[in-house]
Amino acid sequence: MDEPSLFDEPSADSPAASLAELRDAAAACTNCDLYRHATQTVFGAGPQDARLILVGEQPGDREDIEGEPFVGPAGRLLDQALVDAGIDRDLVYVTNAVKHFKFTARGKRRIHATPKVEEIRACRLWLDGEIAAVRPTVVAALGATAAKVLLGPSFRVSKQRGEVVERDGLRLTATIHPSAILRGPQEERDAALADLVNDLRAIAALL
Ligand code: URA
Repeated sequence: MDEPSLFDEPSADSPAASLAELRDAAAACTNCDLYRHATQTVFGAGPQDARLILVGEQPGDREDIEGEPFVGPAGRLLDQALVDAGIDRDLVYVTNAVKHFKFTARGKRRIHATPKVEEIRACRLWLDGEIAAVRPTVVAALGATAAKVLLGPSFRVSKQRGEVVERDGLRLTATIHPSAILRGPQEERDAALADLVNDLRAIAALL
């Protein structure tokens, strides 16, 4: 049988766990095997009263070491895009669908590996808990993995980014992942950054 989660049978009498409680519990998470090779659980960061939650895929190499989401190269691009869109990152709760870094070792380098459906599912209770604790106005997925978690397996970021779905009093949407801006020829990167900034501006208007 599945382990009981903190979020089984939520009711008006059982208030959502606080972010601090969730962070402590997630630090000891062994719901899938990813904890075995990662340095630590990388929980979300940001204010408990944030109106916007941004959800990435999983921590990268830098995040795994520092224990904070989006502090590496993709995080720096996200910071820039947020500034360009007029959103103060300090007012945003930033997290990931998967809380442990999944990688394959290539010599001394650790190369990002895409999490499997079971690993994403095993981590779902933490993301649900974060959303329940923060109760934001908007939850925006960054990239395909988070978009599928939030908006369903058939959601395609390339075709549907910017669409807004209302569910359980939340507005859910998706845009491209900032790491998409780190790849490809300069023209494509510039276009991807412009798309991300435009989507973030539209997200700011929903808040
Ligand atoms: N990519 C993500 O999806 N999340 C991070 O925290 C860093 C890189």
